[in-house]
Order: sequence, then C-alpha cells, then structure tokens
Amino acid sequence: MCGIVGFTGNHQAAPVLLDGLAKLEYRGYDSAGIAIRDGKSNTEIIKEKGKLKVLGEMTDWGNAVRGCCGIGHTRWATHGEPSALNAHPHSSDDENVIAVHNGIIENYQELKEKLSKQGYTFKSQTDTEVAVKLIDYYYKKYNEGPVDCIVRAMLRIRGSYALCVMFKDYPDEIYTARKDSPMIIGIANGETYVASDVPAILKYTRNVYYIGNHEIARLEKGKVTFYNIDREEISKPLTEIKWDAEAAEKGGYEHFMLKEIHEQPKVILDTINSVVQNGQISFESVDLSDDVMRSIRQVYIVACGSAYHVGMAVQYVIEELTSLSVRVELASEFRYRKMSLQDNSLVIIISQSGETADSLAALRSAKKQGVRTLGIVNVVGSSIAREAESVFYTLAGPEISVATTKAYSTQLIAGYLLALQFAKARAEITDERYAQLISEINSIPAKIEKILSDKERIQWFSSKLVGIKDAFFIGRGIDYAISLEGSLKMKEISYIHSEAYAAGELKHGPISLIEDGTVVISVVTQPELYEKTVSNMVEVKSRGANLVGVTTYGNYAMEDTADFVIFVPKIDPLFAGSLSVIPLQLMSYYVSVGKGFDVDKPRNLAKSVTVE
Ligand code: G6P
Repeated sequence: MCGIVGFTGNHQAAPVLLDGLAKLEYRGYDSAGIAIRDGKSNTEIIKEKGKLKVLGEMTDWGNAVRGCCGIGHTRWATHGEPSALNAHPHSSDDENVIAVHNGIIENYQELKEKLSKQGYTFKSQTDTEVAVKLIDYYYKKYNEGPVDCIVRAMLRIRGSYALCVMFKDYPDEIYTARKDSPMIIGIANGETYVASDVPAILKYTRNVYYIGNHEIARLEKGKVTFYNIDREEISKPLTEIKWDAEAAEKGGYEHFMLKEIHEQPKVILDTINSVVQNGQISFESVDLSDDVMRSIRQVYIVACGSAYHVGMAVQYVIEELTSLSVRVELASEFRYRKMSLQDNSLVIIISQSGETADSLAALRSAKKQGVRTLGIVNVVGSSIAREAESVFYTLAGPEISVATTKAYSTQLIAGYLLALQFAKARAEITDERYAQLISEINSIPAKIEKILSDKERIQWFSSKLVGIKDAFFIGRGIDYAISLEGSLKMKEISYIHSEAYAAGELKHGPISLIEDGTVVISVVTQPELYEKTVSNMVEVKSRGANLVGVTTYGNYAMEDTADFVIFVPKIDPLFAGSLSVIPLQLMSYYVSVGKGFDVDKPRNLAKSVTVE
C-alpha cells in the first residue's frame, strides 16, 4: 500500500523522488521520507509524519537536498503508528544499509529476536527496520556483496515486500527485490527509475520492466541487471506503457475523483471498443474461447471492496442471461475457506490494481485447485494480470482517487460483456436480444453524460446532507448491488456512518434505526421489483425517514413518496446500475467536499491494498 520511488541518474534525485511520491500519495499518506546520496558515501535521510506536503516544505520540494541517487517512500502504517521515527527510509545504525519497503514481513518478531542476539537494537516499531538490519547482518557476515545479502535475507523473510535498498559501498546504485508487492523499473536518457506504480515515472519514461516475484535488480545510471533468487543473471522484456501521462494529472478539476467521475463515458467506450467490433464481441484479446465458455458450469466472482460490488451486480446479469450458477465471494474470505471448487468452474478475479493481496491469494488458491481463472484487471502487467490464465483489461487508465469510480464502471462493463458472450457461446440468447443488448451497452456513455450534465442539482441536494450522521441505502437485485457501492462511497470519503440493505431485509432489524430525519436512499430501477421497493420506502417514510429515490425517467410517481428524486435515463434494467451509481458517486463527492475533507485521500484508506 505504501508508495516507493527510487532514482539514480545525472539530475538531482530529491525533486524526482518528491514528484514521483506526489503521484503515489494515494497509496499511503501518513508520513513520508527520502534518502539521498551525493555520489560519495554521504547520505541525507529526511522523514516526517504527515502528508507529503510536510516533507516537501521541509526540503524546498527537494531542492535543498543535493545528490543524484536516492530512494523515497510515502507510508500507510501497518507496524507502528504514523511518526517520523517509523517513517521510511530506515537504516542500519552505521547507515551501511538504507531501505524503503512496501508490504508486511510476517516473521519480523522472530527475526528481530535473532538480530537482537547479534547485538542489533531497534529504534522504530516497524518490520522494515528489521529487514534492513537483517540485510546489514548478512552483508557484514558473508562479505559477498549486495545481491547476495539481499537473497540471504529474502530466504529468511516471510511475507510480502517491495524493497529498495542502498549500500554505503555502492553510492550510485539501488538494489530492489520483490515478492507480492508491485514494483516497476524504467530507464530513460541514461537514468534509471524504480516505483511501486506507473504514474510515478510516467513523466520520464514509458518503457518499463516488471520485476517478478523473488527477483532482484541492480540499478545503475541508465542500466539495470536482474537476478533470480539463485543469484543468476536473468533477462527481462521491456514493456511499453500506453497510458497517457496527462491522464494521471487533475486537468483543471478540483479533485481527481471529480475528474475520474467525468472520464467515465470515455473509458467505458474504450472498454467496450476493446472487445466489440461491428456489433459482435470478440474475446480473442481476453484469451477465453467459446469452447471454454461452453464447458463452464459454475462461476465464482472473487474480489474486494468496490470490485466485490461489481461482482454482486454482474452476478445478476450472468444469471439472467445464462443458465450458469454464480457465486460472489469476498477474496479475504474465499482464500481461507476450505471450499472444494467444482470442475468446470471459472474463477473471475476483479481488481483495479491487480495487486490486492487477498484477491491475488484467492487467484492462487483457485489455480492450485486446477480451476480456470480470468482476471478483470485495470493495471497492465500487474500480478493478477500476469498470473490469471485469461485477462480482460478494463481501459480505465490511471485511477488516482482512492475511492474508485471509473475503474468500477469499466469493471461493470467488462462483466456485462462477459455475461453476454457466455450467453452467445452457450446459445442461450437469440441474435435479436444479443444485438439489442449490445446496442444498450453502447448507449451507456451518452446516458452517463446526460446525468453528469445535471450534476448541479445533485450538488445542491448534497449540501443538505453535510450534517447527517447516518445514511441507509436500500434496493433489490441489481439495485441492491448498487446500494452497496453507494453506501461504501458515502462512508469512505464523507465519514458518514452508512449501511446498505437489501430492501426486503429492512424489517429484519434496520428499520428500528429509522427515526425522524434519518436519510434513506433508495435505488429503484428494476421494473419487476419497483412496487416492492416502493412499499419499503413508504414503510421508512412513515417512520420519519428523509427519503431519496434514484429511479428511471418515467417513474414520476416516485415524487409522491420520496422527498428528493434523481432520475436516470431509461436503459435495459440489466445495465441500469451503470447509470444509477453515477448520482451516488456525485452525492458522496459533494458531501465530502462540503465537509471540507481531502476527497482523494480519505483517512486510513489506501488505494492499493497490498497487505492482508
Ligand atoms: C481499496 C480501494 C477500493 C477498491 C479495493 C479493491 O479498498 O480503495 O476502491 O475497490 O481496494 O482494490 P482492487 O485494486 O483489487 O480493485
């Protein structure tokens, strides 16, 4: 979850590191630090609690620190509270070894005891300091060199890590090692960059190497050498990043979240066009053949957070269009369940980052059982994309705001297209219905534009929600899946206690929490379930709820029941979630802005959850 940047080249390193860290702040922002080397063995380590801005101001945005090689880190605390002491980089007492780390070292206590017996003492509460001192210990004990001592440490460490290490004796070099935490390396104009995510280095280079699990890299100016865990030199392919550098900038919007909400029509269209040509879906790029789709009997959709909510919505669509049975599972639960997966199953992992630790572990556990896997992933070359047998890339581009919007929307589209292709391959849909649904999917971008063009009305209403303490979201079927997402958005960026319930469950408990003025937001787009949900709305209204309805144009009677109604364009109900979610995203955004919160970096959250 933390952000890492490293640089060795001919320019001053600190401004490059701070600039890169600013692009990675969505990965963690409770403290930040840099270590800069001046070409000899002098190193300056500067770190502080708080957002990157604090470190930026301390160092005149890097201009006050001289040296052309360095590593930097923005932290999301796991071991030890956010503080200057626990901030990275960490170093051995003589500064022989200095490192930044992303991930969790599970056996750090045991390693700490081992090192304590060797006379090491520890200043911080972090697992990283233990890793640094372990590397230092092997470096001094065997006197073999950086790659060797890192490998020795890797063999002892359990857990996940992306490590960037500098050694006093190798002043212009950075060594990196990785296991289950993302890291990429880029080279341009005789200079070398390393980062935990693409946006940090996109400004400098589009040509990157993905360092694999259990691999080590030695970075020199304009040169990188890779090694496997057996310390043998290996070669790696260079990959070109196609993302637009501007896509990772705010482009005139006040927040990334608002910009990303507005990008949804475009990225949805891009995602559709990546597999639909002339009204037909082709899954050639996904590498999932019709034969395989015909052989599948059971689908498991496994994901975390909003991606899990996508799975909830897509489940209804697949079950409506095909005879497949679908189970949606939280990755953090799935990975530890003693579930025997049926033969002829497909496990679909949905993940924006492609690095979520639980989703990756779920993928691996499915593969272990010999079950076919498909990733719906946004980040090209990420771990899930590399390890899943088939990959459907969503083309959301870089998503910076911690609260997902555009990646979520493209995942929904990928799910619809998958459902439709399943139906087609299995001959469970007529040609007419298939063509009609493709055309409905194609209509989504323009319909979202229409909702966005009326956002001021939602902004106005949201300003009235700034003082509320609780909110409830209700819906049935797909509307329930969207309610889950609306509720998550509200709580994650507005810090309002919010819960989503299947509307039919209200009477089994939550209705007791409804009192005068309690905000209840009902999503009601499914014609077959309309009356049922409206009855539930009436029930809460009669107990004093302040009722908001999100429904389709035409359902004007809703205005008799709800205090405020948001209408979305008509569409086939299977895809209505792509429209009804937009007002909910906007609502949570405007409430958060109204409360004066840092919308893009909500407290305690990180975008890419690479630890359990
Ligand atoms: C975090 C993010 C969410 C995201 C979830 C899963 O909680 O804040 O926006 O839905 O992780 O992430 P993934 O990268 O696997 O989609």
